[in-house]
Amino acid sequence: MTRRKIIIDTDPGQDDAVAILLALGAPDALEVLGVTAVAGNVPLPLTERNARIVCELAGRPDIPVFAGCDAPLVRKLVTAEHVHGKTGLDGPPMDDPTMALQDRHGVDFIIDTLRAEAAGTVTLCPLGPLTNIATAFARAPDVVGKVQEIVLMGGAYFEVGNITPAAEFNIYVDPEAAAQVFASGVKLTVMPLDVTHKALTTKPRIDAFRALGTRVGDMVAAWTDFFERFDMAKYGSEGAPLHDPCVIAYLLEPDLFTGRYINVAVETGSDLTLGMTVADWWRVTDRAPNATFMGDLDAEGFYRLLTDRLARL
Ligand code: BDR
Ligand code: CA
Repeated sequence: MTRRKIIIDTDPGQDDAVAILLALGAPDALEVLGVTAVAGNVPLPLTERNARIVCELAGRPDIPVFAGCDAPLVRKLVTAEHVHGKTGLDGPPMDDPTMALQDRHGVDFIIDTLRAEAAGTVTLCPLGPLTNIATAFARAPDVVGKVQEIVLMGGAYFEVGNITPAAEFNIYVDPEAAAQVFASGVKLTVMPLDVTHKALTTKPRIDAFRALGTRVGDMVAAWTDFFERFDMAKYGSEGAPLHDPCVIAYLLEPDLFTGRYINVAVETGSDLTLGMTVADWWRVTDRAPNATFMGDLDAEGFYRLLTDRLARL
């Protein structure tokens, strides 16, 4: 089996951390070329630090980690410490990372990698605001056509918003970047809240992480315990949605997910609905499809895959 080459673009975030671990637990299927950090859940100095902590936790200090953009294209950064805590990875105690941050800017890494690799062989996996990706496409339009696929976490339709009544966090933070990426023409697969809100932790699922008896299992259990409290209080749900790991799970087992190939447009003009992903789920317009927008997943299968892959770290 040829390994799929991916770049993880991320703003860790406990669920980002679990996504990175899932990817690093699947070295037979995925080759993580690098991790690019972006400002999002917390400011950039914390997201790049957290990305390094996670690579070290996975025993992979060889993965190059880059700092990308520290602010959205045109707006002030909105962060989510109310969900993820002050560090972005609150929960269990953690040491500072020892592996170095790469000198190169994350956007340059994305551009250089897409230019160096054969066309159609690199998949981008954005787990945060789309600032780095949009910046790379604007700065180097020649790389757009070289992307194999973008599989991203962001947006919502039936679930509407989590940061505003209309918008999901990742898209809301940088709607101009999102609008550019959705209009880029690159093959796009989207994991919106409609699907990630079905990837809920439960006590048995968290117990299964802890029962791995490894440092990774303990950390993931502690992170999900922490991350849970916010969504349980807000939605009255049984647990917390592991949003970002849906992206990596899709690369490993696409059949866990179902969705529709439809038109998705991003609102950038209205104060009221800024960052809303207007998904033509019922195909009531003649706007051309530009994204496979997921709507459902096999949650049991998702947690089986996740636990199985984390066990390998
Ligand atoms: C998204 O926002 C962040 O808080 C999470 O890490 C996830 O990427 C969910 O709306
Ligand atoms: Ca994220």
